[in-house]
Amino acid sequence: MAAGMTGLGKRDKGKSAVRTCSGSKKDEEEKGEEMGVLKIGGVDCRSLAEQFGTPLYVYDEGRIAEQARAAVENFRSEKFETEVAYASKAFSSKALFRLLSGEGLGLDVVSGGELYGAMEAGVDMKRVYFHGNNKSNEEIEMGLEAGVGYFVVDNVMEVDRLVSAAGGAGKKAKALLRINPGISAHTHEYIMTSKPDSKFGIYIENRAQIEQVMDILDADENIELAGFHSHIGSQIVEAESFEKALGTMIGFLADIKASRGVDGFELSIGGGFGIKYVEEDRPVPLGQMCASLVRYAEEALEKSDVTISKLITEPGRAVVGEAGYTLYTIGDMKKSGDKNYIFVDGGMSDNIRPALYSAEYTCALAEKLTEKPAASYCIAGKNCESGDVLIADAKLPEAKTGDLLVVYSTGAYGYSMASNYNRLGRPAVVFVRDGKARLVIRRETYADQYSLEV
Ligand code: LLP
Repeated sequence: MAAGMTGLGKRDKGKSAVRTCSGSKKDEEEKGEEMGVLKIGGVDCRSLAEQFGTPLYVYDEGRIAEQARAAVENFRSEKFETEVAYASKAFSSKALFRLLSGEGLGLDVVSGGELYGAMEAGVDMKRVYFHGNNKSNEEIEMGLEAGVGYFVVDNVMEVDRLVSAAGGAGKKAKALLRINPGISAHTHEYIMTSKPDSKFGIYIENRAQIEQVMDILDADENIELAGFHSHIGSQIVEAESFEKALGTMIGFLADIKASRGVDGFELSIGGGFGIKYVEEDRPVPLGQMCASLVRYAEEALEKSDVTISKLITEPGRAVVGEAGYTLYTIGDMKKSGDKNYIFVDGGMSDNIRPALYSAEYTCALAEKLTEKPAASYCIAGKNCESGDVLIADAKLPEAKTGDLLVVYSTGAYGYSMASNYNRLGRPAVVFVRDGKARLVIRRETYADQYSLEV
């Protein structure tokens, strides 16, 4: 496995059972944990489970706000404008959109559905970046009608469709062209986006297509080519790959300046900053990553004769990932071969990442945090699939039916990739802050699941 590829693909290794609640802990939280009971945002997990049921996604709202602030405060420059746009695919809800808008973030959406949520939440449309390869005509029209600030365009055909839709509707917007800078970062193949044959964007060496897009937009009066975008992958824990991508994109801007005489573009470096899933993970903290990328960009620009008007980043996972917890209730347990199974009341339908990417997580018995590990357990879900294993080998204190099991760092790509497989309803989502819990998304009922059937 490549160095730096953490949180993915190392399921066979053991992991420590107890990890303290991340983020800034209030005194009472610390006290709660001294008693061995996990508190999130000042509320103990048993009362969360009693009030809202399990499985339950719980977000520490203060921790989300802290991450958002760390990004915004550190992604600043005197030399160019900056913007942090939250990548809503990691987790989208209107409550979250309002929270992040309040913290000064823009928003990255990749579909009409994500855009709809942003509109409903009252997000400033000028700060919305509409991504996505193969946007439908309806989505393009919806974005134009809503007045999104930017379309991040993927290919020549999309640019043609965007220009004609904007002309037809008499609407103006800015475009960023997505360039694939060809930087391979250390991460799982499924979430790498920068290989030369990637489905995203136009490969940096494919100058003919890039020039074609620039020519179309130069000739159009509604869509302005504001700049370029690149994104190299996700759950990347080291700064070097991002720096390489930045350096490559600045070199690219220098070429464009030389060949077309244009300068002062906006540049988005995408998202992809890794988080901590298991003890061995050592991601660069988001604030630090943001600060060092801005410095790197300033220095690289200084050395070239290129200027940029704005630098944009789009973190998703790093904003919400570690702020999210999933609480499960342990049901039946059994020994099968040499495995000690713990069955929980959810599974791959609320967290597909272990099955899809061999992603690793850390768990604990949420009310036995101070007890010593007594056994190795295989934490499996209730979905009808052998691969429905959340954690293959968890060292935990002696577990009993009815115990609460918490899986840490499930805030990104958990709810957003959840399914109704086996007609399990999607869990509820709760935000907790200063000792108060509020229901943000209610649990899906059986009736909800059949409500679309005509
Ligand atoms: N910007 C663009 C253009 C992206 O494609 C993505 C993620 C992001 C920003 C945000 O990346 P983040 O900061 O969240 O890493 N389902 C996978 C992750 C897929 C990421 C797709 N694009 C997972 O569960 O690991």
